[in-house]
Amino acid sequence: MPPIDQSSSEARRLEDAIRLIRNRRTIKPTGMSDEEIPADLLEVLLENANWAPTHGMTEPWRFKVFRGAARTRLAESLQRTYKETTPESSFRQDKFEKLGKNPLLAPVVIAVCMRRQEIEKIPEIEEIEAVACAVHNMHLTASAAGLAAFWSSPPIIYGDEIKSFLGLEEKDRCLGLFYLGFPRHDEPWPESTRRPVSEKTEWVGEQTSPGKPQIP
Ligand SMILES: Cc1cc2nc3c(=O)[nH]c(=O)nc-3n(C[C@H](O)[C@H](O)[C@H](O)COP(=O)(O)O)c2cc1C
Repeated sequence: MPPIDQSSSEARRLEDAIRLIRNRRTIKPTGMSDEEIPADLLEVLLENANWAPTHGMTEPWRFKVFRGAARTRLAESLQRTYKETTPESSFRQDKFEKLGKNPLLAPVVIAVCMRRQEIEKIPEIEEIEAVACAVHNMHLTASAAGLAAFWSSPPIIYGDEIKSFLGLEEKDRCLGLFYLGFPRHDEPWPESTRRPVSEKTEWVGEQTSPGKPQIP
């Protein structure tokens, strides 16, 4: 792919990026319709995930895409695992039911996994970070395509039972379930807020020249 033309429409590209990033929203399976996602759109999502940054080019992201009847097997496994691994005192019927229903409400569920490199040269945290970047690429792409998406991480996904259901190796990890579907027509695109970034930023040192204005 040729490099993006730096001279033209910089401001427009910046505006597009701002809009895309700030309008990306989590929409849960209850807000999804049962309309199928075209396979070529799913492939674009996965391809964009594949362009995430990766230290040492390990490309540790692995995706297991559940569609159709396979979602029932996933739902059954989630419920069985929850039942078997949750002490009676903390078992919640509503959580149990949600684990069974969510995969059937979304037309596609992607189990997002991290493949641990054999030689373990790259710190594990960086492999997890790379997978998170891949999920974010997928989520941004989904929002750009008008898809509803939800990164879900019930505690059971980190356990050995789900790992074995997904056929992962011992040092691999499941990092989440990424639910995808078209939003229901009766639901408005959700809004969200963030506390000011100034509360989370410390500026160290000063800029030496004013720089070229970028913000339209
Ligand atoms: C690693 C990760 C795990 C998440 N797991 C859950 C989850 O288990 N349940 C949930 O309701 N939301 C989960 N979320 C989504 C957040 O709730 C959501 O991003 C947050 O509410 C902000 O909304 P927004 O994505 O629309 O900006 C997760 C997000 C991330 C990054």
